Amino acid sequence: MQMPDGLPAEIDLSRPSAARVYDYFLGGAHNFEIDRQLAEQIAAMTPNLPATMRAGREFLRRAVRALLDAGIDQFLDIGSGIPTVGNVHEVAQAANPKARVVYVDIDPVAVAHSRELLAGNDLTGVIHADLRDPERILAEARRLDLLDFDRPLGILLAGVVHFVPDTDRPADLLATLRAAAAPGSHLVVSHSTFEDQPPEMLDAQRLSARTATEISLRSRAEITGFFGDWTILEPGVVHMELWRPDSPSEAAENPERFGAFGGVARNDRPVG
Ligand SMILES: C[S@@+](CC[C@H](N)C(=O)[O-])C[C@H]1O[C@@H](n2cnc3c(N)ncnc32)[C@H](O)[C@@H]1O
Repeated sequence: MQMPDGLPAEIDLSRPSAARVYDYFLGGAHNFEIDRQLAEQIAAMTPNLPATMRAGREFLRRAVRALLDAGIDQFLDIGSGIPTVGNVHEVAQAANPKARVVYVDIDPVAVAHSRELLAGNDLTGVIHADLRDPERILAEARRLDLLDFDRPLGILLAGVVHFVPDTDRPADLLATLRAAAAPGSHLVVSHSTFEDQPPEMLDAQRLSARTATEISLRSRAEITGFFGDWTILEPGVVHMELWRPDSPSEAAENPERFGAFGGVARNDRPVG
């Protein structure tokens, strides 16, 4: 694998990493043998899974476009992953060259690659931090001085909250992030679910227990709760493919097959 310069020494190569397994599924080159073995095992159980990962990425792209259409020009992307095609800043800056993006990930490989990719892009920043410490994320984001927390912000949590177990109180973590966001801000969440899923999908998702970040599958109601009192935009919290598909045919058959719900909400709290 190509290692970027300055890759931190704390990479744990004894366990697969969620970010690197995800990178492998997306066709990236930033993964190790231990990641590929787990990815292949998961893929053998659920041939659909690589498509699921791509569908997650597509949901994120559509959601970011919707936020751009709503006038959002700054994004805090938490659990951003290893950079791959169609990164948030590429989608955002294609529509608005002044759009700003701060990426946050817990994985040192994802952070190192993000820093390498974004060197020279003054409107982007990268933070190595844990969603379970939202105060630190907010403090570091303020220190970077890229995002203006007095203006509407897009908070992106795509495929990451399911890595936070109930014992770490994910609803409270999201409430902290929402509280820091000005009126007009938007929150994007996609999250794996057990609802409508066949047993083999559930077994495969349980394999994530081998990574440092086990997945907690949640119900639609629990995932909806992560939006708090913000206004959930149409079409609601739905199977990812059903969230404003580019073409009606895209999501025509078995939209539940990707095992994750997605939704977008807006902070309609009055200004002031
Ligand atoms: C499935 S990938 C999603 C990547 C990207 N958001 C997307 O939708 O394409 C999940 C990412 O969340 C990161 N992650 C997992 N737990 C995290 C945590 N507690 N804090 C921050 N990032 C985390 C992983 O390292 C991984 O890069």
